Amino acid sequence: MLSKRMEEAINDQIKWEFFSGYLYLSMAAYFEGMGLAGFAKWMEAQTQEELFHAMKMYRYVIEHGGRVVLQAVDQPESSWETPLAAFENALAHERLVTSRINKLMDLAMDERDHATLAFLQWFVSEQVEEEASVGDAVAKLKLVQDGGALYMLDKELGVRVFTPPQAEA
Ligand code: FEO
Repeated sequence: MLSKRMEEAINDQIKWEFFSGYLYLSMAAYFEGMGLAGFAKWMEAQTQEELFHAMKMYRYVIEHGGRVVLQAVDQPESSWETPLAAFENALAHERLVTSRINKLMDLAMDERDHATLAFLQWFVSEQVEEEASVGDAVAKLKLVQDGGALYMLDKELGVRVFTPPQAEA
């Protein structure tokens, strides 16, 4: 059974996961507007990952005797100076999410809530991957010097698809 404090903290994080999806979908729309369909596809896959995260937390709260109360999701930004600026924003956002997951872990430790600690461990690992994949795109964008390279990178980002983790789906 979740404590009231833990329940509220996870409910707050559910909103953040939905906001993350909203932010990345906004970036997808921005890239569509620039004619960068591959970048847009990458961001759409990222959006689906975030919705998966939100629903994973949603189910956890319900299955552990808690109550899900959805909060208002903020309006995301809708344009960026450059594709690199958008991806740098995504990386900063993922770092913020990591710090939030770590705070949830701290709370679960304080409360000796072992079930929630085990549950959150998946998100700790997931954040390492998320930061790495966005960081990789930022590094590649920094290497891009001309339109031809941008085109090649667009094709590379465009092959990404969302695959739900087998054991977790
Ligand atoms: Fe749900 Fe990208 O963190």
